[in-house]
Amino acid sequence: MPTPLPPDWSDRLALDRAHVWHPFTQMQVHEADPPAAVVGGEGCDLLLDNGERVLDGISSWWTCLHGHGHPRLVGAMERQAARLDHVMFAGFTHEPALELVTRLRPRLPAPLTRAFFSDDGSTAVEVALKMAFQAQLQRGEAGRDRFGALRGGYHGDTLGAVGVGELENFMTGLFRPLLLACDRLEVPEDPRRELVPDLTGWAARLTTARADMAAFFAQHGPRLAAFIAEPLIQCAGGMRIWPPELLTELRAQCDAHGVYLIFDEVATGFGRTGTFLACEQAAVAPDLLCLSKGLTGGMLPLSITWATEELYGHFWGTPASGRAFLHGHSYTANPTACAVACASLALFDDEPVLAQAQVLAEALRSAFGALATHPAIRQARTLGAIGACRLVDPATGVAHAAEARFGWRLHRAALDRGLLVRPMGDCLYLLPPLSTPPARIAEAAETLLHLLG
Ligand SMILES: Cc1ncc(COP(=O)(O)O)c(C=O)c1O
Repeated sequence: MPTPLPPDWSDRLALDRAHVWHPFTQMQVHEADPPAAVVGGEGCDLLLDNGERVLDGISSWWTCLHGHGHPRLVGAMERQAARLDHVMFAGFTHEPALELVTRLRPRLPAPLTRAFFSDDGSTAVEVALKMAFQAQLQRGEAGRDRFGALRGGYHGDTLGAVGVGELENFMTGLFRPLLLACDRLEVPEDPRRELVPDLTGWAARLTTARADMAAFFAQHGPRLAAFIAEPLIQCAGGMRIWPPELLTELRAQCDAHGVYLIFDEVATGFGRTGTFLACEQAAVAPDLLCLSKGLTGGMLPLSITWATEELYGHFWGTPASGRAFLHGHSYTANPTACAVACASLALFDDEPVLAQAQVLAEALRSAFGALATHPAIRQARTLGAIGACRLVDPATGVAHAAEARFGWRLHRAALDRGLLVRPMGDCLYLLPPLSTPPARIAEAAETLLHLLG
């Protein structure tokens, strides 16, 4: 059969321009520079309307794990949608949700025993923040009306999540009057992850960071309901890799001050950092854990906030006690999404997904090793299957001015050469599907080197 010609996208783009409002976008930009039209996804590639194949170098906002259109995920979705597409989850339960908790539980830190489902990363975070606050109230700690978070963090775009993120990074400061009260702690980046590391003074900096953390908790601890952090790497915060030693210290400080610890593994979970969860690398368990993105292998929206038995216990009581967690969403524990998540986890069991991630990690180390000495690059670093560096103007050695829109121009130029990258500020990174063949990473590095000149 002859391959059908791609449809003419010019009228479709006019429709997009007339009616669609895209996320994280100044829409005026699309007047001259319309969005790229994607007509398919195959393995680690996206297929564009012009017939080009593009390596999904950022896993479509860090969601895609096993490649696009994986037949086992597609099959699970089709079978489940035909059997039971959706049912409300208050007062009902179903097999895909039960299979999912059964598959996931053994892969999590042992204290996490209770799964609360929602829809995406932001709602997983909202749930964790609300749970922590209510649990503190119900254990008699009424004065804990603030949250702690890392400087430079990002936890989603709903108001609760924005409140614990770093406002200045995402130009969300205008929402300040509407936000939760949050105290922020700075942690240093870990130079040991850099491909050309400078460890001068590192031991002293780590000691200072520990002392800063202790001082932060001494000052703010009594008022905090919870402290939220992305373990080991602040992804949207600019792929800032921070030391595992401080993660251990954070757990100790939370324990000492009666503060719940929330790990947001929305981006770091499911093998991205080299282990199934990032927190495994410091052997630290949180009180609440947020999972989303890779939970369904990137096929459908779904999230889970996991809680410990201790925290869950504070919600236990008669209906009249008023202790229930009164929160839910229409699509909570959507059976189709749960079935796809089960299929994704089954792949972790049946295929060497984490070993593949290790191969990818090595390919990224070598790609960022090649980029590391380029005059337009600083601070090339990797953590598992994530590689990142800073883009600078080689003439000055400092970041390009925001008005130059260097990152956006690099994004568009790379797209024309078959590579999807989307720098965040001066941070250029690759975070491709775990199934990406190493040769494609080497190609991506060559493309970037070519574009950087
Ligand atoms: C660490 C982290 N938490 C939460 C979120 C929000 O997830 P979502 O975009 O699915 O709401 C993101 C999204 O990038 C994230 O990186």
